Amino acid sequence: MTAAAKAAKRPEKTILRALAGERLTTPPIWMMRQAGRYLPEYRATRAQAGDFLSLCYNPELAAEVTLQPIRRYGFDAAILFADILLVPQALGADLWFVTGEGPRLSTISDQPGVDALKPTDAIHDTLSPVYETVKLLARELPVETTLIGFAGAPWTVATYMIAGRGTPDQAPAHALREGAPEVFDALMARITEATIEYLSMQIEAGAEVVKIFDSWAGSLKGEAFQRYALKPAREIIAALKARHPGIPVIAFPREAGDGYIGFANATGADCVAIDNSVSPEWAAKHVQVDGCVQGNLASSHMVSGGQALVEATERVVRAFRSGPHIFNLGHGITPDADPENVALMVETVRSLRA
Ligand code: CP3
Repeated sequence: MTAAAKAAKRPEKTILRALAGERLTTPPIWMMRQAGRYLPEYRATRAQAGDFLSLCYNPELAAEVTLQPIRRYGFDAAILFADILLVPQALGADLWFVTGEGPRLSTISDQPGVDALKPTDAIHDTLSPVYETVKLLARELPVETTLIGFAGAPWTVATYMIAGRGTPDQAPAHALREGAPEVFDALMARITEATIEYLSMQIEAGAEVVKIFDSWAGSLKGEAFQRYALKPAREIIAALKARHPGIPVIAFPREAGDGYIGFANATGADCVAIDNSVSPEWAAKHVQVDGCVQGNLASSHMVSGGQALVEATERVVRAFRSGPHIFNLGHGITPDADPENVALMVETVRSLRA
């Protein structure tokens, strides 16, 4: 089918309708980390690519793993297969993944370290295969499936660039922001600028929605949350909205707690993704009042399954049924999840009439 024929046939996609503020009888559904190690077909394609980063930079194979969960479960959205740490790599950081342990990066702790980063324009040299993946997906996805692009939020990306790895409490990043605020702010500004360019290119390549993952927002409190989670999100969203009006943005300030309240209005986000440290009833009352929310089933149910999964899924759907809602997990699905439990979750959501 030609692109024009496909566009003419395109129904109003459910995810886009929810993001525009519509309450749907059955909430649209997708899942964080839906392409991942819990799927045997993902593990096979990753083995074919060689390793995780080679998979991220191989447009055909990255598009293939993006499509796998769509074929298996018919999710309403596909999320581009890539990683938030490709941006630091594109800015010049060394990046590698240690099997069973997670990412490792070269570290930044001072102004010369920030100054040594590559200019923003240079990121596309590294990231252009990602834009190719988006282009392939825009052509290959079923007409009803929404394509979501993404990037890490500056604070979360900075925590990895400073510590060189994931840290339980983000202590190295907190130490830098308190001990050398000018260095920290310079790094945040560089990441913010690169993120705007990266997401803009994803949109130009065909991403219909973008999501900003601030996985470590929960360790920012009070003033620091405003300054390093809320403000960069507002800057990125304002720049994207100016360049690409009409492209919805989902913000995920994970574990923000009370920081979720008013976050959409303060940043311009069209939807706030909710983790499972807050109840769906609380989030409906305090966050969904401002518009669309996404979430928030605990990903542990994808491991344990059974009647508890069914009940928890129904509880999330019911809690959010009076407003716009995209069903999702509260965080990414884990490698030990059972693909059958994912099928049970999807079936439960789709058989309920909210
Ligand atoms: O959601 C998706 O399916 C799209 C792809 C995606 C990945 N990472 C693939 C991935 C997305 C959106 C991410 C985001 C990401 N990456 C975040 C933010 C969201 C979150 O989970 O909080 C963060 C913090 C990262 C950084 C990162 N990448 C870590 C800490 C790890 C290791 C964690 C682990 O479970 O081992 C990764 C690796 C990674 N990113 C994998 C996948 C599928 C597993 C790598 C593999 O196949 O070996």
